[in-house]
Amino acid sequence: MDQKKKKNRYDRIYKQLEELLPTSNDELARMSTIIAVLHHKMDYFFWTGYYFLKEGRLVVGPYQGPVACQELENDKGVCWAGVNREEPVVVPDVEQFPGHIACDSRSKSEIVLPIRNNDNQIIGVLDIDSSELNSFDEVDRQELGRILQLIYQ
Ligand code: SME
Repeated sequence: MDQKKKKNRYDRIYKQLEELLPTSNDELARMSTIIAVLHHKMDYFFWTGYYFLKEGRLVVGPYQGPVACQELENDKGVCWAGVNREEPVVVPDVEQFPGHIACDSRSKSEIVLPIRNNDNQIIGVLDIDSSELNSFDEVDRQELGRILQLIYQ
């Protein structure tokens, strides 16, 4: 998808979420709604979900797409890289990422963004996989970061 079309689509998603999310203060409800909207509006999103930090482990949260790994081995793969680097990680080709954890062999590219709560602590990551190479760019990084800020408003 070209960058302009992608940005327009994210703008529409953002507006829809701004309307939907205020009906609940529950974080899990808001996070789940974000996943449902993203997954169904972005046709290149093959797997869309969260991994939450729980007692030093990354455990899967709400997601849409094929069945995924329930827990991720410590300090390995893209999700852990997002937590440890404390910044988004964009992977154009997952096979080139050392330690990448393949929950589904159809995943070809990936983006991971750390999620911070109101105390500025990382509570987990948003993880999105595409079944095509090189799907994610600066527009996804910026727009998904903006959407994540809606969780704790
Ligand atoms: N590929 C991720 C694992 C989670 S799945 O993509 C759903 C990783 O390397 O951390």
